[in-house]
Amino acid sequence: MNRVHIKTYGCQMNERDSEAVAAMLRARGYRIVASEHDCDVLLLNTCSVRDAAEQKAIGKAANIAHRKRHQPDFVLGILGCMAQNRGAELLDKLPDVDLIVGTQKFHQVPEYLENIRAARAAGVPLATSIVDIAEEAGSQNTIRDHVLSQDVAAESNAAGGAENAGVDAPPQISAFVSIQQGCNMDCAFCIVPKTRGDERSRPMEDIVAECRALAERGVREVTLLGQIVTSYGRRDYAHTDGISPFVQLLERVSAIDGIDRIRFTSPHPRGFKQDLVDAYGRLPKLCGYVHLPMQSGSDRILRAMNRPYTRERYFEIVEALRAVRPDMYFSTDIIVGFPGETDEEFEQTRELFERCNYDMAYVFKYSIRSGTPAAEMGDQIPDEVKEARNATLLGLLQQNSVRRNATLVGTVEEVLVEGPDKTGRKFTGRTRGNRVCIFDANPRLIGQLVSLKIDRASVSTLYGELVLSGVPDAA
Ligand code: 5AD
Repeated sequence: MNRVHIKTYGCQMNERDSEAVAAMLRARGYRIVASEHDCDVLLLNTCSVRDAAEQKAIGKAANIAHRKRHQPDFVLGILGCMAQNRGAELLDKLPDVDLIVGTQKFHQVPEYLENIRAARAAGVPLATSIVDIAEEAGSQNTIRDHVLSQDVAAESNAAGGAENAGVDAPPQISAFVSIQQGCNMDCAFCIVPKTRGDERSRPMEDIVAECRALAERGVREVTLLGQIVTSYGRRDYAHTDGISPFVQLLERVSAIDGIDRIRFTSPHPRGFKQDLVDAYGRLPKLCGYVHLPMQSGSDRILRAMNRPYTRERYFEIVEALRAVRPDMYFSTDIIVGFPGETDEEFEQTRELFERCNYDMAYVFKYSIRSGTPAAEMGDQIPDEVKEARNATLLGLLQQNSVRRNATLVGTVEEVLVEGPDKTGRKFTGRTRGNRVCIFDANPRLIGQLVSLKIDRASVSTLYGELVLSGVPDAA
């Protein structure tokens, strides 16, 4: 009766929140299981950023709710952004959902589950579903516990769990660390200020302590997470010698022995002042991969989106970063078909997209989010136009990616070995530029930085051989 499966939709922050919920439940004696079919509690941690993401989770919940007919003690919960966005209204469509918990209340999940189960055990099931989407001061500090993959396997093995029995999960070597929650930017298209609330940052000391603890458990790479990480600590810490609190945090994490690589997401172009650009010159652990959401290459659309930069300023940032690290990798977010976007305006996006030469990009068709300013704007763009613009950018991206990967064939890349690949026969890891590599290796190399000679590339993956000199026991 204590098997919990958590299914996560959306961004890395949601993945991190799910890990924290898993850690809290595990501490209370629950088992976190990999199968959504063999579980007693199923929690859907949801995304609201586009309508399709919400529909996916609603469809899943409706499907799973049927299970209650033959498994009456089954508990179904909806957590996170869609819970926050829609609250009790979800029960109109999904009356069998037992639990709806918003983004500031993840830490309450164990207690609510206990309430539901205790009431059922006493023969007096709760008359109504539990809904908690209230704001809570300090909730950014409650996401701190980690369940690492090796912990889950150990737990399942100890309990004789079939899904992982006999299998030792490789040690986890890359971890997400939440540094900040919420966003005050009010981009006209975006639901996040509603789902994640006002900007709040965690204390720097807590973040550094968490990264140190992760390093002690074998983690080599941290990704610092927040809705707008470049605004980290802006109300809590002063600039020192022109260095922003976010860059101060990067310096502190860089100083931790055992952490070899630092990544972060998502930043705002507005946060790329000289101090952050310079950080790439002086902090070697900071990976040369920048996710820099452009959204549009048209100044008029950027203004309508309430994005406070111009296409010229955006490109200046890209060039400044390339000047510091010539081999910098770039990714971006683009919205096509924002209300009123003309062919000429899209052409400006296409042109800037091409000029930036992205290695990776997330291209989204504009999705109406009710309650946001853009939802009220006239001149919504037809689906087929969005589709065509989407395809244009994805085509360019594919060309870029192939071209970039081709330049890597024959070179030697530093790769952090993460574990077995999907087939279980080879190993996988990523370059500093976040390219996925597949290669033959030895389990002892998991968690090590190795040199990989790249001998083949597809659109998205590099294949190579370890350069063995100086690597003991590699073969
Ligand atoms: N429609 C389409 N894409 C959106 N995004 C945010 N809101 C919307 C929306 N209403 C995209 C933005 C953001 C990414 C996380 O999702 O590009 O950077």
